[in-house]
Amino acid sequence: MLAAIVSVLFKPIRAGIAVFMAVAALFGGIFGFEKADISHKKDGCLASFAVISDTHLTEANGRREVLEIGLEDMSKAKDRLDAFVVDGDITDNGEPAVWESFVLAMSKYDISDNNIMVIGNHDTWGSDDPAVTKENFIKYNKLATGREITEVYYKTEINGCPAIILGSEGDHVSATVSDTQIAWFEEQMEAASQTGKPIFIFFHQPVNDTHGLPYTWEMNKDDGPGTGGIGDASDRILGIIKQYKNVFFISGHIHAGFSTDDDNTVYSSVERYDGYTLVNTPCYMYSDFLRGGNFLNGTGYVVEVYENEVIFRARNFISGIWQPKYDAVIELVK
Ligand SMILES: [Fe+2]
Repeated sequence: MLAAIVSVLFKPIRAGIAVFMAVAALFGGIFGFEKADISHKKDGCLASFAVISDTHLTEANGRREVLEIGLEDMSKAKDRLDAFVVDGDITDNGEPAVWESFVLAMSKYDISDNNIMVIGNHDTWGSDDPAVTKENFIKYNKLATGREITEVYYKTEINGCPAIILGSEGDHVSATVSDTQIAWFEEQMEAASQTGKPIFIFFHQPVNDTHGLPYTWEMNKDDGPGTGGIGDASDRILGIIKQYKNVFFISGHIHAGFSTDDDNTVYSSVERYDGYTLVNTPCYMYSDFLRGGNFLNGTGYVVEVYENEVIFRARNFISGIWQPKYDAVIELVK
């Protein structure tokens, strides 16, 4: 019954979006955005994927429908995506009923052959027992994506590019990363580096003290170093990343919108370092404008890999517009 009511309520919202999209198509260029379906920016794209984060699904309202608008946008891509990633906090509370809601949403749209789920801190809150949390993640990963995993961390590839998924094995805001996971990560990075391709790492929590952290976590100047980041394992993970080149570490968690060095000194979505790049994906469901940047919900990136560069293309998947102001082009190191 509730689902039927929500569905009816969303019809005018969808109509409103359609009007907005029509206006955006006519006047978008004036305001720095561009209405267009998802397709490669240029010829020669070797791999492409969409990444969103913090969908925070609940049972109580229409968040699944908000997610579905974005999934529909991705499913209509003119150039089919090679992967789709949700970078953690897929659910608001990790309860099975909410995981089921995600499975339902995913079942409706054919986005890619490689849909990737990352565990976030909210996804670990369905039980006080981390073993139950892990089992839920494994179970609903299989149901939503068809993937068989045995841990919350695993690997895949995106059209030949290594993709390494890391995740917390505990139930705190910061991540619990076992020595076993760290050792596994080290092995995977060494193997990935042999491919000569860019390496993508997905972890819900950002590297400590990046993207404006610790301040951007709760906008509290008293928060100490490490707040809002990976936590204790951060230095070890970053130490491994630094040993390789063309590494892209993609996180969520902060709930900030797109921001660049140009328009905000507190926070930047993309941080470039020698050999590696840190990218923080906005909160899809409700970005917090207090942190600066673009606070519209429904945002994330389409990432395109080319021979000599990787392009992060900022997109609002709800309204179907590109936001090139927040794009980042990262040249690959040879
Ligand atoms: Fe979140």
